[in-house]
Amino acid sequence: MPGAEPGIHALHGFVGSGKTTLARRLERTLPGMRFSPDEWLVALSGPGLNAEEFPPAFARVMALMEEQWTRALELGVPVILDHGFWRRADRDALRAQAAALGVPLTLYALTLPDEEALRRVRVRNAQPGALPISDETFRLLRAPFQPLEADEEAVWVGQE
Ligand SMILES: Nc1ncnc2c1ncn2[C@@H]1O[C@H](COP(=O)(O)OP(=O)(O)OP(=O)(O)O)[C@@H](O)[C@H]1O
Ligand SMILES: [Mg+2]
Repeated sequence: MPGAEPGIHALHGFVGSGKTTLARRLERTLPGMRFSPDEWLVALSGPGLNAEEFPPAFARVMALMEEQWTRALELGVPVILDHGFWRRADRDALRAQAAALGVPLTLYALTLPDEEALRRVRVRNAQPGALPISDETFRLLRAPFQPLEADEEAVWVGQE
């Protein structure tokens, strides 16, 4: 494949901050293979999983995707991981994994005021194939979100 060297392009940002939108752009411009877990989850399990069903189904999707994206890297294809990487521990694990695989890692940080992100999520909820996120879920998900810390290198992506 012409263009980018094999590497990991990982997207960090809260719900509705524009990760998948940027991932789709990178898919074309790098070019690379995009891995968006929400799309796989909806394709495999539908949009209606309840709170009990969601975590194990999501874990299965993540495991399946990891097999594919590590294989893509071995084949020399850049990968775009649209996972969010909310927890510091997830980002530390990814940095360690990139080092072990011997590939460069670029972390993209997206920020958007909650008010605007929620507005966009409400619009998106009405679109086919969307993983619906209620106002209440949007608020509850704030707790597990850990912003980047000062020592974490990232490309900050500004938005209109
Ligand atoms: N500049 C923009 N102006 C208006 N809407 C936008 C803009 N960029 C993205 N959107 C829309 O906002 C919604 C949220 O964007 P996107 O799905 O990329 O966010 P996300 O970070 O992937 O969210 P999630 O964490 O839920 O996966 C989408 O419907 C997208 O089309
Ligand atoms: Mg997304």
